[in-house]
Amino acid sequence: MSNQEQGGPKTAGASTIAPAKGKLGVMVVGLGAVATTFIAGVEAVRRGIAKPIGSLTQMGTVRLGKRTDNNSPKIKDFVPIADLNDIVFTGWDIFEDNVYESAAHAKVLDKDLIEQLKPFLETIKPMPAVFDQYYVKRLHGTHVKKGKNKRDLADQLIADIQAFKKTVDRVVMIWCGSTEIFIEATAVHQSIEAFEKGLETDDIGIAPSQIYAYAALVESVPFANGAPNLTVDVPAMVELSKKNSAPICGKDFKTGQTFMKTVLAPAFKARLLGVSGWYSTNILGNRDGEVLDDPESFKTKEESKLGSLDYIFQPELYPDLYKDIFHKVRINYYPPRGDNKEGWDNIDIFGWLGYPMQIKVDFLCRDSILAAPIALDLVLFLDLARRTPSLKSIGIQEWLSFYLKSPQTRAGLYPEHDLFIQSMKLKNTLRHIMGEDLITHLGLEYYD
Ligand SMILES: NC(=O)c1ccc[n+]([C@@H]2O[C@H](COP(=O)([O-])OP(=O)(O)OC[C@H]3O[C@@H](n4cnc5c(N)ncnc54)[C@H](O)[C@@H]3O)[C@@H](O)[C@H]2O)c1
Repeated sequence: MSNQEQGGPKTAGASTIAPAKGKLGVMVVGLGAVATTFIAGVEAVRRGIAKPIGSLTQMGTVRLGKRTDNNSPKIKDFVPIADLNDIVFTGWDIFEDNVYESAAHAKVLDKDLIEQLKPFLETIKPMPAVFDQYYVKRLHGTHVKKGKNKRDLADQLIADIQAFKKTVDRVVMIWCGSTEIFIEATAVHQSIEAFEKGLETDDIGIAPSQIYAYAALVESVPFANGAPNLTVDVPAMVELSKKNSAPICGKDFKTGQTFMKTVLAPAFKARLLGVSGWYSTNILGNRDGEVLDDPESFKTKEESKLGSLDYIFQPELYPDLYKDIFHKVRINYYPPRGDNKEGWDNIDIFGWLGYPMQIKVDFLCRDSILAAPIALDLVLFLDLARRTPSLKSIGIQEWLSFYLKSPQTRAGLYPEHDLFIQSMKLKNTLRHIMGEDLITHLGLEYYD
């Protein structure tokens, strides 16, 4: 096997994965720009009026066997993921707007498309949210649950989940809510017991996103986090995820600038080109931009955005190339652009004998258009993980790092940020759970 392009043992896999039968309920926390673009997009695809571009689960393929086998099925035909027609949406928001109104407000999608989908979109009305302005300074919520303490609020969310469960066959939760202020893990996050005590005592370290995640995991519902909030990145949540077979993954959708970073940085490293500085700045004018204008929410985003380069470049292994990188990230709220962000990167690199060069990237992107397919894939893959015996009780699904700015890993394991390693890891995980040979790209057998 060692000289083969494919390697690794076959597993029993496929036959033991529970089928994706019945309705998949998707509970979305925060029905803003990303969420409404995601929901409206799924409906547009279901009606055949648009294509699910950017979604690996819908358009991607996976090669099986040797290159000469010519066998590359679509991922959705290879692994048992839920059909888009079986998805049912619900959610929470701190404003009462239904998904039609919120999509119109977000101004991401054309008016024509939103009008066409109006009868469906206006049926999705948010449930009152768990919210506290202390954690998101720039928002003033009006559609908010009241409770005597955080435990009471968690119980109300659990009741929402239980009621929704009665109408569908399986449930996944995804956070598409705002970025909360920067919080570091404290004693309250170290065990399920400490966390539950903290709910009773209204511990300040427990943010609303953690109350949703706790409610989901208690109910064995997988949880994805589109924002950089601490949320499930703490021992208590990892423990709960494993205990209740409710998969979790990393955080913060990898969409624009960080997506580009995790493509370019591995290329420089592969060619041993040095980097002395990487300056990144953005302008955006949507509500997310307004929230991130608050320094405390920005700090959370900044930490998430800064992380990738250090791990990719491994300055401890390559001190001559990457020891002294000056890395800066800026986000500027600029209303005229709305959701159409512009992200600039100036990269100062150096080559042979230390001679300097520069690269400029100007990405005129559409934030929510890039995020929506990621939300869809995360939901479908977490549901798959929940039905897969070898994945459902391991807690963190590192193979979903592909989609996230801050991958989550087991304690003590460094995260893999390189997009191409992440892509290979994801596809090999699919091959593995389906009992197919893994692909190593060695390929000597073609030259025997
Ligand atoms: N669009 C992207 O490319 C991208 C990339 C990475 C991460 N994100 C993150 O995704 C999240 C959503 O982005 P967006 O552009 O849709 O923002 P948005 O402001 O349009 O939507 C967020 C929604 O969450 C609601 N909300 C806030 N706190 C809540 C709570 N506690 N409970 C329920 N609802 C709550 C807000 O009212 C709002 O409707 C943000 O945290 C953003 O940083 C977006």
